[in-house]
Amino acid sequence: MPNIVVVGAQWGDEGKGKIIDILAKDAGVVARYQGGHNAGHTVVVNDEEYILHLIPSGIIHPGKICMIGNGVVIDPEALIGEIEGLKSRGIAIDNNLFISKNSHLIMPYHSIIDKESERSKSIGTTGRGIGPAYVDKVARTGIRMSDLLDSHLFREKLELNLSNMNYLLYNVYKSEQLDLEEIYSKYMGYAQKIGKYITDVSILINKYIEENMNILFEGAQGTLLDVDHGTYPYVTSSNAIAGGACTGLGIGPTKIDGVLGVSKAYTTRVGSGPFPTELKDKLGNDLRSKGREYGATTGRPRRCGWLDVVVVRYSVIINGMSGIALTKLDILDEYPKIKICVGYKYKGNIYNEMPHESSVLWNCEPVYEEIEGWQESTVGIKRFDSLPKKAKVYIRRVEDLVGVKIDIISTSQRRDDTIIKRNPFRDY
Ligand code: IMP
Repeated sequence: MPNIVVVGAQWGDEGKGKIIDILAKDAGVVARYQGGHNAGHTVVVNDEEYILHLIPSGIIHPGKICMIGNGVVIDPEALIGEIEGLKSRGIAIDNNLFISKNSHLIMPYHSIIDKESERSKSIGTTGRGIGPAYVDKVARTGIRMSDLLDSHLFREKLELNLSNMNYLLYNVYKSEQLDLEEIYSKYMGYAQKIGKYITDVSILINKYIEENMNILFEGAQGTLLDVDHGTYPYVTSSNAIAGGACTGLGIGPTKIDGVLGVSKAYTTRVGSGPFPTELKDKLGNDLRSKGREYGATTGRPRRCGWLDVVVVRYSVIINGMSGIALTKLDILDEYPKIKICVGYKYKGNIYNEMPHESSVLWNCEPVYEEIEGWQESTVGIKRFDSLPKKAKVYIRRVEDLVGVKIDIISTSQRRDDTIIKRNPFRDY
């Protein structure tokens, strides 16, 4: 039975939520492996919209087992809010959600430090404390989910962390200090609510793999936001790439059978950092309003531009992608000409592979190929054959340029408005 990673091929917000929701039908388990509530996965079912930040999108399907791996950083308040929000809409959670004992907690000081350090770093973070929580994890001072279940140990670790953090908050950031008792009692309250979900997720997921269940690994953010392989330092603080599924859940690389990359038919980015095909003109605004490009987590307007196949091709390589899901094709419906960036020009040189020098990425000029637009609606089309001829030409050209097949094409936000040429669970 195949185990498939779904990963963002750009800077996040590619529409992974919808693709995971569709594939979850064939999966027994859906598991998140990195990030935190900086992510925002939107799923539309029967015109009802669900925005998930931490809980895998598979939860919308009754009976699916959903896991949050050790690679995820968790703000318990956000998690409880999400659990309660879903329960109030009739979604069953209690028997299907499992949270890793080894996942790290986001503490109140993390989000304060995240926001304060933005003043000098200007990365445009979501301000949710993600980076500082990962800093503590790597510094080996973090507090984990399992600590939440041991009140004495939790208090000990909190005391130690808080004395350092309060020093930092007061002396470096000139911010108010935090109260130990207040945090302690708040987190003990959270433990009461989420303790029942906390378990050894690595053992559990490997057991399900042994039992030949289909596993769907849910990536958050995107390849270009990966802390090692993205446009550093304008990245998130985790490994968003497919390889992150191994470390973020505790599974061996031999257990992964395929990687489906998700890419928009154009490009967006939220937050700071280089973005070679960004359109700062009327066209960029037009893409933003047609594509409703506002962050699902922060509501920030997303920066928009043409499809950049230098980026997607790089993602194909880094993730070992076996196929691509192309989303939001319908947003391009009205344009008479559509551009695809096939390289970058900088100081007389042409770059066909992703450069990592920030001077090149910030200052290069995109080299575009222009394709005829189809100027017909593709909204709701469910069969490849029914697409306008020129839309097929566009899709085939993108396939040639990125080097893998486009297996799934999304033609609106709705679950059913999708062309599935190859389902990774059935056809890989
Ligand atoms: P952080 O993850 O909050 O530290 O933010 C680091 C960078 O990643 C910022 O540019 C954010 O806008 C971006 N980012 C984080 N999560 C997402 C996401 O889910 N979609 C798109 N961008 C994201």
